[in-house]
Amino acid sequence: MATVQNAITIEVLAAQPSAVETDLLIQPVFEGEPLPADDSLVVATAGEISRASTSGEFKGKLYDLFFTPIVDSRWKARRIVLAGLGRRSDYSVDRVRRVASAAGLAAKHRRHERVGMIWTDPRDLEHTSQAIVEGLILADFDAAQYKTDEDRPPRLRGLHIILAADAMYDARKTASAAAERGRITGESCNAARALANEPGNTLTPRVFAERAAALASNAGLAIEVLDERQIAELGMGLFIGVSRGSAEPPRLIVLRHSPPGAPTAPVLGLVGKGITFDSGGISIKPADGMERMKDDMAGGAAVLCAMCAISLLNAPIRVVGVVPTTENMPGGRAIKPGDILRGAAGKTVEVVNTDAEGRLILGDGLWYAQRLGATHLVDVATLTGACVVALGKIASGLFGRPTEWVDVVRRAAEHAGDRMWPMPMFEEYRDQLRSDIADFTNTGGRPAGAITAALFLKEFAGSIPWAHLDIAGTAWAEEPQPYMPRGASGVAVRTLIELAWTSNTWPR
Ligand code: BES
Ligand code: MN
Ligand code: ZN
Repeated sequence: MATVQNAITIEVLAAQPSAVETDLLIQPVFEGEPLPADDSLVVATAGEISRASTSGEFKGKLYDLFFTPIVDSRWKARRIVLAGLGRRSDYSVDRVRRVASAAGLAAKHRRHERVGMIWTDPRDLEHTSQAIVEGLILADFDAAQYKTDEDRPPRLRGLHIILAADAMYDARKTASAAAERGRITGESCNAARALANEPGNTLTPRVFAERAAALASNAGLAIEVLDERQIAELGMGLFIGVSRGSAEPPRLIVLRHSPPGAPTAPVLGLVGKGITFDSGGISIKPADGMERMKDDMAGGAAVLCAMCAISLLNAPIRVVGVVPTTENMPGGRAIKPGDILRGAAGKTVEVVNTDAEGRLILGDGLWYAQRLGATHLVDVATLTGACVVALGKIASGLFGRPTEWVDVVRRAAEHAGDRMWPMPMFEEYRDQLRSDIADFTNTGGRPAGAITAALFLKEFAGSIPWAHLDIAGTAWAEEPQPYMPRGASGVAVRTLIELAWTSNTWPR
């Protein structure tokens, strides 16, 4: 976005791969299927490609990569990589995205700045083109922002999608438009990842708000930042409560996408958790792994960056975004276990554990999104360790009501390639939030911790459709994957973007 990636050029071509001006050709291959019939590839690699397949060195298994030089000097590219797609029966657009990413990461390590992915299957060209560009842009993400050595991997400069040489004008047009959506979507994910990667000392709430303003203005998105006084005036006692332990003042980031001519309803309301560092507060966390809590604003970054993309892509509906951002610290004025807070919606909360701070700031955030006119809500938060226990690092927890709305979000996630899994919210769980002196406590104990957190949020969602994404396990990749390095993942950004085009399927 505003930052580094403007230099990239993306082109969709209908051409012979030999004619494409690029450093590295990427040829996707299904497992157990013959290599692309085109002999010229075999010849151009002096037979290496067929040797690798007969010897079993390359089988086309998912994420398998086989690099070889192109020796035929009439070809413009000097290298080609076969990229395994896995079995055709397991094919999905998401696999195309991930394989493109895996190839892109390997290309980056080999210092290729221009890559061209060959894609000759005309079916579902729109979605595959978008996915290819998303995958390659995601691979271009540089997480090591603060390394000072000269030897940084190069940034991607040129990206080609190479269609069959006889592809029609319409196909090229479809693919080009989809590629542009892929670029904006991929860059928005990377912008969210860059924010989540920032440590607590460089990305304080005020800096987060400034970065939000820069990104929003670049995207033509209306933004307003409320300071601690305005937040208090709105009566957001839950949000203010969390911020009290910190020397850094809180901010409320408010984003509005209102395209001229869009219907007045529905209004999508996105709310993201923006804890720039979560020490746990007085209920302080153990030292081990606490450094990870710099990404406790990944939900807020997802909302911000998805809204930038929604604006750049000119989604046809109104969307409002609300990101309450603060540190959770144990300063002398911090809230204490047992304290009572009153949120803007008027409900009172007994703070049993100051480390359950996300639901407090989101409670007021959900209230504010409704005040801005939201008719359908989605919140995104690194909310509970319990969700990591339940679903691991593979899928985000998906909660909400009514089922029709949760299904809409689930389908958008599936389409976008964010794994999300529906979780139950049986009302019996609510007993765990009972307080003797307030409307409820802010923790329900260890059992079903992700569910009781969701039930807490539900109290602030009013009576409109609401979904909650717990991304505690998915916002950060602890183990590098073939398609993703260690670090911030940008989860939920693509889902939220996708959602803005599905309003004809929403419950009312
Ligand atoms: N930000 C954490 C949740 C979290 C944990 C995110 C691990 C990513 C990885 C959240 O604010 C938190 O501390 N939740 C508590 C709630 C508990 C006190 C009820 C938790 O999950 O332990
Ligand atoms: Mn916490
Ligand atoms: Zn937290």
